[in-house]
Amino acid sequence: MAFARLSAIIALAFGASQLVSAAVVQRSTTCPSGQTTANATCCQLFPIVDLLQTQLFDGGECGEEAHSALRLAFHDAIGFSTSGGKGGGADGSILAFNKTENAFHANAGIDDITDRQFPVFLQSGLSAGDFVHLAAAVAVTNCVGGPSLKFFFGRPPPVAPAPDLTVPEPTDSVTSILARFDDAGFSPAEAIALLASHTIAAADQVDPSIPGTPFDSTVTTFDSQVFLEVLLKGKSFPGATGQPGEVLSPLAGEMRLQSDSRLSQVSRTACFWQAFINQQSLMTGAFKVVMAKMQVLGQNTKLLTDCSDVIPTSKPFTGPIKYPASFSQSDVQQACSQLPFPSLSTVSGPAPTVSPVPGS
Ligand code: HEM
Repeated sequence: MAFARLSAIIALAFGASQLVSAAVVQRSTTCPSGQTTANATCCQLFPIVDLLQTQLFDGGECGEEAHSALRLAFHDAIGFSTSGGKGGGADGSILAFNKTENAFHANAGIDDITDRQFPVFLQSGLSAGDFVHLAAAVAVTNCVGGPSLKFFFGRPPPVAPAPDLTVPEPTDSVTSILARFDDAGFSPAEAIALLASHTIAAADQVDPSIPGTPFDSTVTTFDSQVFLEVLLKGKSFPGATGQPGEVLSPLAGEMRLQSDSRLSQVSRTACFWQAFINQQSLMTGAFKVVMAKMQVLGQNTKLLTDCSDVIPTSKPFTGPIKYPASFSQSDVQQACSQLPFPSLSTVSGPAPTVSPVPGS
């Protein structure tokens, strides 16, 4: 019964058909590298995937650069408006026009990753949009449990930087965040699915005195832990004091964004938030569907080639997720009454202190 209700909510939100696995496409072409793909045009991308892994992601890690590459793809694409008059969407303008876009308040700290990506981008020969969105897709698969995102190839070079004030900030109200997502073409359910990204995320800039402070206790794993931990009662700030955009978090060393906290609690989004807890394939499936939409915003998809089969596969997440040590259901601030809360066990031992992401 519980699962039937949950499935109904998610099916309504994402369109049941989209969550059904796509038919397996025949990899009929063998590339000079020996790898196979459905389309010979995609062969040129295999060496670039290797280049990304060696030059950018420390040999395939789910570390700081992988996290930042995903954030960069979002900040690039969300510059778009369905009513026009804003940026070109998923066009790589954030990399090509980094001097302009890095100066926007919401892009604080993003220069670290544009500086790291720029020389590799030049070496790759790809357009900036293809580079940014390929890097993000590869990055996600470096994380245990990360879905293999779709990748469409052939974006033309960006023509202009996106304007300021298109990227949501953690200090923004729920109304303003959801209005911005709506303007870019995303429903509230889709916005929450995109926030699965915060399972492999940390903050350098919210409290600059503690760079690399993770949003959950499993920052190298693409699991649903962030959806659980954002609901646990807050106790302290990871730094000396709270900062704008930050609210109390449950674990030492962990940061909770005000925006994540509010989105988990308001009636418009609370059930979408809760529905992902310990539902790995539901969460990764929804994330994949919505990322596929986000990563071609503003593009003429008829001119792009589906090169999704160049994207690697991650190590599977074997789950289930658990409450961090010392926590239980009595610590949950449940905001969705329509769904039963999943039954989870607790990690044994004393309450953990979450370590910062190395290299932040
Ligand atoms: C409500 C919308 C969102 C808000 C307000 C928001 C806000 C933030 C903030 C403040 C940070 C920390 C930045 C820093 O201090 O270094 C962050 C990190 C991150 N965000 Fe979001 N975000 C949102 C949506 C998204 C989406 C849709 C994605 C991707 C699909 C995303 C991916 C990430 C990632 C991967 C990081 C970690 C970056 C790193 O560790 O280097 N975010 N986000």
